[in-house]
Amino acid sequence: MRRCQRCGQRAVVYLPQHRLSLCKEHYIDWYLKRVESTIREFRMFDRGDKALVAVSGGKDSLSLWDALYRLGYNADGFYINLGIDEYSQKSKIACEKFAQEKGLSLHILELKKEIASIPEIREVERNRPACSSCGLLKRYYMNKFAKERGYKVIATGHNLDDESATLLSNVLSWNIDYLARQFPVLSEGDGFVKKVKPLVKFTEKENALYAFLSGIEYIEEECPFSEGASSIEYKKILAQMEERSPGTKLRFYMDFLRRLHPILQSQEVKLRPCRICGEPTTAEVCSVCRLKERVIPKLLSSSPSS
Ligand code: AMP
Ligand code: FES
Ligand code: ZN
Ligand code: ZN
Repeated sequence: MRRCQRCGQRAVVYLPQHRLSLCKEHYIDWYLKRVESTIREFRMFDRGDKALVAVSGGKDSLSLWDALYRLGYNADGFYINLGIDEYSQKSKIACEKFAQEKGLSLHILELKKEIASIPEIREVERNRPACSSCGLLKRYYMNKFAKERGYKVIATGHNLDDESATLLSNVLSWNIDYLARQFPVLSEGDGFVKKVKPLVKFTEKENALYAFLSGIEYIEEECPFSEGASSIEYKKILAQMEERSPGTKLRFYMDFLRRLHPILQSQEVKLRPCRICGEPTTAEVCSVCRLKERVIPKLLSSSPSS
């Protein structure tokens, strides 16, 4: 039987990459301290800053909201209802339930009211994976909403598995622009609200364990459209390497941030307000407005009432 290295009680977890065994109480304590130290290390935000946590109802983002709440940060939730049938209904309920139990405020944006649901967009944009329009829309509405309501920072639940898989994919294609922007903090400016990822040092498993030990009821289902995403393959490869040599993922990602990122000069990107909606873009009309122009007429012409 392993014993907690802090108190000697029975351990509930062994973290091979940290060579650490911990009991329930000390695991929660370790997790919260690591969230706090990540926020400080990357100067993400302070307790006085109004933060918006983007929540999907999954283990990562609800653990993040919970940790920020326990650490005394001023964080409201933001959920985008993508209208993906049962998956979206369940994830919305998980977010609402969490907010209600803790007495926190949750904002909900209905994508269908803004443009159309993801399944509808998928139906008319057949040559594009649903995930790419979805990612674009999530980023756009998170930023727009936060800006309109005066939030200083947007926090997302991206974890070490997400970030190291993205890093591997960007390295394999030597995507220098993306590598230069891959950082746990993106500063505000040019119409963008500051964006932060306080869970970049935690694996999916560590977030799931925190959620479980804290009694958070998250949804386990993955989005039905994520099947076959290339990031899943990169995650598998990294998991194999991690198994053989614990700590590989953390080292790969943190060494990139420390060693390579500082010398990557991001190419000057000229941004201007979109002619239609005013949000920042590199083109005359932003990608969301272009998506709307393609999708809405097709949906109107195919609806039975027209
Ligand atoms: P994903 O792109 O699904 O891996 O999610 C990455 C992060 O984006 C999550 O940890 C959340 O912070 C945020 N997020 C994902 N889906 C939603 C959603 N429907 N509404 C609000 N935030 C979301
Ligand atoms: Fe956006 Fe799956 S969550 S397509
Ligand atoms: Zn202990
Ligand atoms: Zn626009």
